[in-house]
Amino acid sequence: MQEYSKTDFDFPPDRTNTDSIKWSRYAGCDIIPMWIADMDFQSPPPVLEVLHNHIRHGVFGYSRPSSQTEESVVQWMSDRFRWAIRPDWIVWLPGLVCALNLVCRAFAESTEEVLTTTPIYPPFLSAPRFSDRKLIRCPLKRENKYYSFDFQQFKQAFSPKTKVCLLCNPHNPTGRVWTKKELETIARICLQNGSIICSDEIHADLVLSPDKKHIPLASLDREIAERTITLGSPSKTFNLPGLSCGFAIIPNKQIRERFTHAMQGIIPHVNALGLTACRAAYSQGASWLNDLLGYLRINRDLLDESVGQIPGLSMGPVEATYLAWIDCRKLGQPNPAAFFEKASVGLQDGAEFDAPGFVRLNFACPRSRLQEAIQRIQKAVTKQAL
Ligand SMILES: Cc1ncc(COP(=O)(O)O)c(C=O)c1O
Repeated sequence: MQEYSKTDFDFPPDRTNTDSIKWSRYAGCDIIPMWIADMDFQSPPPVLEVLHNHIRHGVFGYSRPSSQTEESVVQWMSDRFRWAIRPDWIVWLPGLVCALNLVCRAFAESTEEVLTTTPIYPPFLSAPRFSDRKLIRCPLKRENKYYSFDFQQFKQAFSPKTKVCLLCNPHNPTGRVWTKKELETIARICLQNGSIICSDEIHADLVLSPDKKHIPLASLDREIAERTITLGSPSKTFNLPGLSCGFAIIPNKQIRERFTHAMQGIIPHVNALGLTACRAAYSQGASWLNDLLGYLRINRDLLDESVGQIPGLSMGPVEATYLAWIDCRKLGQPNPAAFFEKASVGLQDGAEFDAPGFVRLNFACPRSRLQEAIQRIQKAVTKQAL
């Protein structure tokens, strides 16, 4: 039987011809894919081990989470964030994007509004539209490359029709880890306006800055918890997004029932491999995560330092996530993602996040590949300046 000992972040397996969305975009071309948010690394050895065992067992019938699987989530939230949740608050989901769409449909009527701050992960912008709800965009403030809430503007963005606020915590794409004070203010404003909060915390475990700490919004106090739907998943943390396993944590019974009612007949069960991987990741993946964070920090620092030396580009501190948000507006290129693609680096266009002139770079890859991408970016910028 195959042995899974330690993940070698420097030498991950080749992902070409594996039905990978990230890698198939540039199949047959020498373009480094650094766009969609999955990592090029293998999942933790204990996760691979249980998946291997499940495949040897060979039966893939319908599944439901066991009490041990539920307990693994409860324990993880308690150990990592000192957040005491109950197993019956967990609603299992095959993904979080579908949850963003469900929330819009279940908690706002077609004449009502859903609010979010920009720039933002694109499904936050499309979910209200797909649900025929009106989207209210409230821009974040950017000062010295650092994003924060403009609370005056945030407050003013609400109307009596605003029923849902979609929050990303930590934030994709800016990498911000919202502080306790910021979260308290966000929650207070939402509650005062009668809006429920959907807090997408998929990046919660990927805090890179040692002086920052992820705080689940719903852990702040009971009143906030009663108005919050928290979305979570082991998928970003342990590189399992293709196994489609996530959850919503909903303490309030009425809100939970409304959410599960909207799921009926539409949202499928979570698959057996996803649940198996989730349980193993949360119960045996902590030390691997520690190693991963160490590797990502060095990648982030390398990128940060290099981007700082490239004229026309700048990036703020990536406090969490493995995604760098790069301001290219001084480059003078109308479409920087297309410009860098021509230079053989595949980035995500900021326009998709409601911020043209920016690109998002996924640095969860072997360091040598990141170095190669940085060189290509440097070369392209130097060449256009000549
Ligand atoms: C904030 C956020 N939410 C959700 C997702 C995707 O969730 P899922 O793959 O579970 O639908 C991502 C992926 O990048 C994300 O960044």
